[in-house]
Amino acid sequence: MYLHGTSIINAEGRLEIGGCDTSDLASRFGTPLYIYDEQLIRTRCREYRDAFQATGLNFQVAYASKAFCTMAMCRIVEEEGLSLDVVSDGELYTALQAGFPAGKIHFHGNNKTPDEIVMALEANIGCFVVDNFLELQVLNELARARKVKANVLLRISPGVDAHTHEFISTGQIDSKFGFDLGNGTAFRAVQETLKLEQLRLLGIHSHIGSQIFETEGFRLAADKVTRFAAEVRDQLSYTFTVLNLGGGFGIRYTEGDTPLPSADYVGAIADAVKTNFAAYNYPLPEIWIEPGRSIVGEAGTTLYTIGSVKDIPGVRKYIAVDGGMTDNPRPALYDAKYEAMLANRALEVEEEVVSVAGKCCETGDMLIWDLALPAVRTGDLLAVSSTGAYNYAMASHYNRIRKPAVVFVKDGKADLVVRRDTYDDVAGNDLIPERLMKQPVAK
Ligand code: LLP
Repeated sequence: MYLHGTSIINAEGRLEIGGCDTSDLASRFGTPLYIYDEQLIRTRCREYRDAFQATGLNFQVAYASKAFCTMAMCRIVEEEGLSLDVVSDGELYTALQAGFPAGKIHFHGNNKTPDEIVMALEANIGCFVVDNFLELQVLNELARARKVKANVLLRISPGVDAHTHEFISTGQIDSKFGFDLGNGTAFRAVQETLKLEQLRLLGIHSHIGSQIFETEGFRLAADKVTRFAAEVRDQLSYTFTVLNLGGGFGIRYTEGDTPLPSADYVGAIADAVKTNFAAYNYPLPEIWIEPGRSIVGEAGTTLYTIGSVKDIPGVRKYIAVDGGMTDNPRPALYDAKYEAMLANRALEVEEEVVSVAGKCCETGDMLIWDLALPAVRTGDLLAVSSTGAYNYAMASHYNRIRKPAVVFVKDGKADLVVRRDTYDDVAGNDLIPERLMKQPVAK
């Protein structure tokens, strides 16, 4: 397993993250456990900020909180000077509860409900990324009722194929998101927005996909949106002041993954933007991006205890962990691949090839196929790396399994940032209608 950030193998031969021995973390907090390397999160935030500062552009880096949204995470994002992108009332609530500055929150989503829009208007958030014509009308009406003006970016669908897994490509033409650039819809959306009195149009937004390892897609998207900006200026005499190019920067899950340093993505975006806008003699807009996975993905490790082992001679050896698709649905959903190691015997030589099964009642609940490990014993700790993005965020209560705790580790200290679910968290919302109540048995 690749050791990210502050992860090391310590003198006892055990995996240590943020100066904390994972065996100690397991005893203290139990397993499964999501462990986040706080220093690595902060480093990733700073890398984006520094890279932009070097370009001389005006910018905002908004952390896409869908990747991992908790109050402690919002605090780190604020401390590191980033903005925050939310996509639901739940994420907005989390940010506001953490005291995140509302003016630095951007609200996304292809079907924001009127209640969500009201909540965001009342919090006075920084900007709405409007996805469709219905939202333009509803937002305008709700803002009028409150006598406020809302800042707006229009999400356009640029028609760029980001060469990634089909389920996580969002920039192609056949997409549920945004106003299409190619067929004139985006242009009509700008005309419409400019007519709506309660909306202040800042610019446009484009997101081409996720887990992208090349800069070409971003360059293409930048080309298309610049051309569009020029068209809008020439025909409607309106100049955009913000261009948001979304997120999608790739991370390393396994050996085959070859992400670029964030400075390379930022540099390519900056070059494209500077060249294009100069070519159209267009004042340089502020450039915004929205990384999610690349801020938190590699900083997360999931720690499990190995339980049952099923050896089918000549076929396969399954080892089962105390979690599975409930804390990491990505292998089942996207055929995602992960690396892992025995955290308590990290220096021992690999002796066997096993497949890691979860504990859910479902054949598809497999985390890793064909993993080389030292001879596995029940009670060993298995650490799976790069589980920081879209794992806790997409965790479920399938089989009524309780969600794991989350800890942040840094400089030898571990802080609980999400408590492990209680039984009440899985059954506490249940109600038994009176007619189904157990009647006292007559004697
Ligand atoms: N901005 C927008 C508008 C997005 O839709 C997304 C991700 C991001 C930013 C952040 O993208 P990132 O930098 O994290 O790649 N559940 C899937 C990923 C879905 C991504 C959805 N949108 C997964 O586990 O791979």
